[in-house]
Amino acid sequence: NELYAVVGNPISHSKSPRIHSLFAEQTGEAVEYTAIQAPLEGFETTVTSFFERGGRGLNVTVPFKERAWQMASRRTDRAAAAGAANTLYLDSEGSLTADNTDGAGLVTDLTINHGIALADTRILILGAGGAVRGVLGPLLAARPASITIANRTLARAEALVDLFAGQAGETRLEACEFRAADAPMDLVINGTSASLQGDLPPLSPAVLGPDTVVYDMMYSLQTTTFNQWALDQGATRVFDGLGMLVEQAAESFQVWRGVRPQTAPVIDVLRNE
Ligand code: ATR
Repeated sequence: NELYAVVGNPISHSKSPRIHSLFAEQTGEAVEYTAIQAPLEGFETTVTSFFERGGRGLNVTVPFKERAWQMASRRTDRAAAAGAANTLYLDSEGSLTADNTDGAGLVTDLTINHGIALADTRILILGAGGAVRGVLGPLLAARPASITIANRTLARAEALVDLFAGQAGETRLEACEFRAADAPMDLVINGTSASLQGDLPPLSPAVLGPDTVVYDMMYSLQTTTFNQWALDQGATRVFDGLGMLVEQAAESFQVWRGVRPQTAPVIDVLRNE
């Protein structure tokens, strides 16, 4: 079997080994996938020795995505724009290559799994950290009418608008504070880490219309704090990030193996565990 792993700290709760084992079983690919907890000061050494031992590919998670991007000697275009990497491998020349499959995972989950068309829609995205930066490129490529980035710290949202202005095309890309977002949206995406503290971005319910789709990039067994808020306001089309998690994994699997696994059965299995 060829060796793959996810590296993070902490890592014990990662679903990636389970997801990739299901992909390997389903596709018949000779993939063995484990979890590695790297010490905070030893991430780069962990990566280097993994590939020296013959490892074929890594996923990278919190808090190492930026360092994975930094240490790579090559970056795919989508990784370059994301400023962070969740996927590493050696290219045919043996150069450590960084990719980022998070944005593709989000867009596939929205459009394919949930059947949501993104072209010409009004999208509100909450947060302006690494998670949002990682998905803006693929969201813009879907040609929405507008993407509004709302963040607690306005300057960080403005910095993302500047960074992605060149990729916006016809899409209106703008930044605002939470309280300034007060018009009904087609899609509201929570990309803040507020849910981790059980916290809620102070968002006006006026952004939710009868058909607004609400998507929390977070995933947990219980309904996330943000999605519960949306349900309490009467939203009916509310999704969490489990599909995104499985889709980014499928995209990484395809990058490494050249084979695309079926995701629906894997999402079903995880939803019921
Ligand atoms: P990540 O990789 O998850 O994006 P990050 O880069 O630290 O992590 O960014 C966290 C995001 O969640 C930021 O947009 C942050 O807002 P600030 O830029 O103002 O810090 C947002 N965030 C974190 N905790 C929050 C809270 N309690 N309420 C609202 N926003 C929060």
